Order: sequence, then structure tokens, then C-alpha cells
Amino acid sequence: MSEPILQVEGFSGGFQSKTGEVTQILHDVSYTLERGKITAVVGETGSGKSVTALSVLGLQAPTFRRLSGSIRFDGTDLTTLGPRELRALRGNRISMVFQDARAALNPVFSIGQQLADTYRLHHGGSRRAAMAQAVDALRRVHIPEPERRARQYPHEFSGGMAQRAMIAMAALICTPELLILDEPTTGLDVTTQAEIMDLVLDLARDRALTVCLITHDLGVVAETCDHVVVMNRGVVAETGTTERIFTAPRDAYTKRLLGASQLAEAAE
Ligand SMILES: Nc1ncnc2c1ncn2[C@@H]1O[C@H](COP(=O)(O)OP(=O)(O)OP(=O)(O)O)[C@@H](O)[C@H]1O
Ligand SMILES: [Mg+2]
Repeated sequence: MSEPILQVEGFSGGFQSKTGEVTQILHDVSYTLERGKITAVVGETGSGKSVTALSVLGLQAPTFRRLSGSIRFDGTDLTTLGPRELRALRGNRISMVFQDARAALNPVFSIGQQLADTYRLHHGGSRRAAMAQAVDALRRVHIPEPERRARQYPHEFSGGMAQRAMIAMAALICTPELLILDEPTTGLDVTTQAEIMDLVLDLARDRALTVCLITHDLGVVAETCDHVVVMNRGVVAETGTTERIFTAPRDAYTKRLLGASQLAEAAE
């Protein structure tokens, strides 16, 4: 088996208060992402899923303090990189769809403009060619009337459309090796959720992308993910293949999480 593309190892950290104390949030977090696979990160709210993912890109809040550990991406420890080196990785090799897609878009530029500007930043070329790429990316994430939609602003997009636009940005305009999706379908209706997940899977397959999917939806995990990382209160409770985690969970917290979701399914 080849080296994992990402190895989080013994990663601990927390947030510094105004008085200077650090409240530890992440405790010795370790997990790996295998190349070309889809890995889910699950766990209840506040368990540290997003803080860990943001740490990969060096995008934690400025008050975050790493206490120990490393995050190796393709052999390089990302925790040792400066802002410029991290910026060079972002979008080029690793990209992320944030938990709140609309907030991640700039309200004062049209969607097409933002996609086109990002395209030029990474690939160069003329404005006109970049806008054509932007429209094409919107078409490929199934946004209807992409030429017209490209001229619209984020507030004119529905939540599902904003998510699609962010996926277009992260996976088509940028051409990363690793795509991190932080709850890409939260707050969307079930049909739109399913469509967006299908879209992500198609992209992942087409491009042999490595995907890290942070989600609360265990149904989606069971259907689409190869591996699962279970987090609980800033600790990795267990990791394993999706099949093993679902059929023979070892950790008490995982069992509870799966039990709760089965209850929810039974109630539906
Ligand atoms: N900027 C911040 N300052 C202080 N504490 C923070 C900050 N960001 C996150 N935290 C805390 O870190 C912990 C982990 O948060 P995180 O956002 O990683 O949770 P999560 O697992 O992504 O939850 P959710 O499923 O709700 O998105 C929480 O207790 C949260 O309150
Ligand atoms: Mg989160």
C-alpha cells in the first residue's frame, strides 16, 4: 500500500483566551487519509472535526495554539510551513469546501468573477478564457443557465447552489489532490443533499481525488465512504474501514453514535 496522502499524528491544540490561558480542544488526534479514498470524519457537534480540518490548511482562528503533533501531507509537515507556503498549497494541492458555503463567498463579486479570478490565480490566461472556465464549471456542477448565474451575486444563490458553486471552485477551478468537505450538505433538503453527494463522488472518481468528508449523516457515510474516523470531544475514538466500523464497532462512543442513528432511522 502506498503512503497515505495525509497523516495527522499526535495533534494537540487549543484556543488561547485574552488572559493567555490555552483551553485544550484537540487531544493527541491521529488519523490518516489514504490516497484516492473517501474518508469520513464523524462525531457529535464540538468534537473537533472542523478545527482539525482547518489545521490542515493553516486556517484555524488566530487564537489557535498547536501544543504538539504533526500533519504530514505527501511527506511535508504542514505545521512547519509559513503562511506563504501554505497559501501555495491551498487550492493547488489541497482545497476545502467550508461548513458555511455562502459565508465563504465574497458578497461583493459575482459568482462568475470569483471563479474566474481563482482560475487565473492558479492557471493564468486571459479574463475571457477564465470566465469561460467559470461558466463551464458551473455547468458541470449542474447549475442551470450557468451563463446567467455566473453574473449573479452570492445573495442571489440558494444554499444548494452556493454549495455547488463552492464545489465547482474547490474541485474544478482548483485541481487539488486532496479535497476536504466540511458538512457540504448541511441545511439542504434531502434531494439536494443526495444530488450534491453524487456530484462529489463523480468528481472524486473522475480525478482520483482523495476526499475527506466531515458529516453528521451516517447514511451517506455507509453508502459512499471507504474509511471512517470517529471523533469525540477532541479525541479520535476509533478509525477503520466503513464496513468494520458499521458491523463491528469497538469503541463505546461509536456504538452509541451508530445506535442513535439507527433509532433515528427506525423512527422515520
Ligand atoms: N475560534 C474558536 N475559539 C474558541 N473555541 C473554538 C473556536 N473554534 C472552535 N472552538 C471550539 O473547539 C471545539 C471543536 O470545534 P469544532 O468546530 O472543530 O467542532 P465540530 O466537530 O466541527 O462541530 P460541528 O459538528 O458542530 O461542526 C468546540 O468546543 C468549539 O467550541
Ligand atoms: Mg464543524
